[in-house]
Amino acid sequence: MEPEPWTAERLLQTSGSYWATCALHAGVKLDLFSQLETGPATAAELARRLGGDPRGAGMLANALVALGLLSKQGELFANTPFASRQLVRASPDYLGYILLHHHHLMESWAHLDRSVKSGGPVRDASAFADAEWRENFLLGMFNLANRIAPQMVPQIDLGKRRKLLDLGGGPGTWALHFCRHHPELQAVVFDLPTTRPFAEATIKRFELTERVSFAAGDFLVDPVPRDCDIAWLSHILHGENPENAARIVALSAAALPPGGLLLIHEFVLQDDATGPLFPALFSLNMLLGTESGQSYTNQQLSEMLHQAGCREVRRLPVCGPNDSGVLAGVV
Ligand SMILES: C[S@@+](CC[C@H](N)C(=O)[O-])C[C@H]1O[C@@H](n2cnc3c(N)ncnc32)[C@H](O)[C@@H]1O
Repeated sequence: MEPEPWTAERLLQTSGSYWATCALHAGVKLDLFSQLETGPATAAELARRLGGDPRGAGMLANALVALGLLSKQGELFANTPFASRQLVRASPDYLGYILLHHHHLMESWAHLDRSVKSGGPVRDASAFADAEWRENFLLGMFNLANRIAPQMVPQIDLGKRRKLLDLGGGPGTWALHFCRHHPELQAVVFDLPTTRPFAEATIKRFELTERVSFAAGDFLVDPVPRDCDIAWLSHILHGENPENAARIVALSAAALPPGGLLLIHEFVLQDDATGPLFPALFSLNMLLGTESGQSYTNQQLSEMLHQAGCREVRRLPVCGPNDSGVLAGVV
């Protein structure tokens, strides 16, 4: 798709749009929407609930009204129905984890120029060791996958295969949705040991403990389970350099029996890497946050599948938000 033509207005709007982002993030960070869910409040009352200052609380609430996330009647602020659904912690549709994850990334994005000069990350790799960071990251991954899996999973033909390996599956969202859709299917979620509590809590919440298990390990070091006939690699290759990404595809193929199905889900770049926009920007996010990760092109991912010995390599006719796509190969 051709990029929208630039105008001075669009330039200024793009440059300053982080103000709205920051107002939204402050609301989520302060859990302002949950605080308002107990009932409408004046700025002073809101400040009391937040443990903050009436001047600041009033200004933020007014800006959130201007953004259409709160309403105001007289002096009383209240959540809009949308905010109640998506921004209140107790709601099953709460999206705050992924918004807080975005917030944690902002500081590194402000230093993109440094990464471009050095070719390396500015984000501290130890951030992942921080419990709050990890919770927002993993539950943020749940927020994203849980929104798209119910539409995408029914469009992916698994044939009569019986067990799915969700490699780097995080909280297991995809494995759970595949199993929900295929009543006979079993799955194992393979991820780092620190992910276990999040995955096990999610598996329990989906009431699928009989069919979905968690196996802890590092896919670059440890053997991966070999009793599966489908491998689902969702958003793990972009964290790795091309050699390691190809290695992960190869070891996944080697873990499957003949006829096994290998599926890669990624933000897929077109072959000249100049779009679509989100995968191109996501590549910068990997420049900022990893030693050598990147978004991959359709051609690169197809080659990885071919090199791993797969046949029937193809792009499936499914498209997720932000141009995520699925490539398939049969072992
Ligand atoms: C971007 S998340 C994707 C999660 C999930 N597949 C999804 O699509 O929602 C990447 C996942 O890979 C896991 N991961 C990263 N490096 C890993 C490694 N070396 N071994 C096992 N898991 C790893 C992370 O813990 C995280 O859960």
